[in-house]
Amino acid sequence: MMRRIGVLTSGGDGPGMNAAIRAVVRSAVFNDVEVIGIRRGFAGLLDGETVDLGPRTVANLIHRGGTMLGTARSEEMKTAAGLRKAAENLDAFGIEGFIAIGGDGTFRGAQALSELTNVHVVGVPGTIDNDLCGTDVTIGFDTAVNTALEGIDRLRDTAEAHQRLFFVEVMGRTRGFIALSVGVAGGAEDILVPEIRTDLAELSEAIRERLAAGKRASLVVVAEGDDAGRAFEIAEKLGENLVMDYRVCVLGHLQRGGAPSAQDRLLASKLGAGAVRTLVEGRTGVMVGLVNGKVVETPFEQTWSNVKDLDTELLYLMKVLAR
Ligand code: F6P
Repeated sequence: MMRRIGVLTSGGDGPGMNAAIRAVVRSAVFNDVEVIGIRRGFAGLLDGETVDLGPRTVANLIHRGGTMLGTARSEEMKTAAGLRKAAENLDAFGIEGFIAIGGDGTFRGAQALSELTNVHVVGVPGTIDNDLCGTDVTIGFDTAVNTALEGIDRLRDTAEAHQRLFFVEVMGRTRGFIALSVGVAGGAEDILVPEIRTDLAELSEAIRERLAAGKRASLVVVAEGDDAGRAFEIAEKLGENLVMDYRVCVLGHLQRGGAPSAQDRLLASKLGAGAVRTLVEGRTGVMVGLVNGKVVETPFEQTWSNVKDLDTELLYLMKVLAR
């Protein structure tokens, strides 16, 4: 019988992390399990920054962006000494089950702790990047896409008014999930993603052809990790070949904040409760995810070593629709 669990959020924050914390706390209490929150991710675990969590401490939280526990990217957790200290602290806090909400970096730390200790460790996928296997979507992705979309709709207004070309950069250091969804939903003319080599000559030719065909405003969505560079660099490289007036807009961290969408709240509620169930039923070393509407468990390692496919048919669809 598990008596006390710890929960933290780590890595880049994402809308819905608070809803996940709330779900963890309330389902744990429902199962007569105590919950300790760890502040500032693994950095807080190393520094011993904890807070007791109960049903009332997570009130008025489901609709808030950010994370009430704070988050960090900890370099120390990547060292053997850091891991040992984290393991000792889990023991000192009397934590028997541990829930880590975050992305692949978070799960690497969680996996290492599950190997080093007897503590049962479960992950909840919280990242706007949607780059984890074992879940159809990650918590935060839907809200980030909707936030970026709002920006893109606004840019389209001004692009049309001035008959300009816009390069809009969205987040996604290694993957193009946000760029692809937002690009198709926003009616972009081109989408540049890290997964597919970008041919700048081809891009400027497509821009020229559209202009010749009478399309005087264009939006090019660029994932920040595109192989041709960041949006400003790409615009600069295209330079004088660009036959039209252009502007660059980097949406950046705007995409990480704000109230979570209904979809993210639902996902976070299901997965937060699912993580507690996994612990209560005695399993460890897995991430809980939602696949085809069902909560499933995937061993940590597979969540980052397997590659989640980008739906490249969507890229084709964008090209058909952007005429
Ligand atoms: O992993 C989430 C993410 O928002 C990425 O899309 C982005 O590349 C990165 O975090 C930015 O990190 P930071 O907030 O540390 O600048």
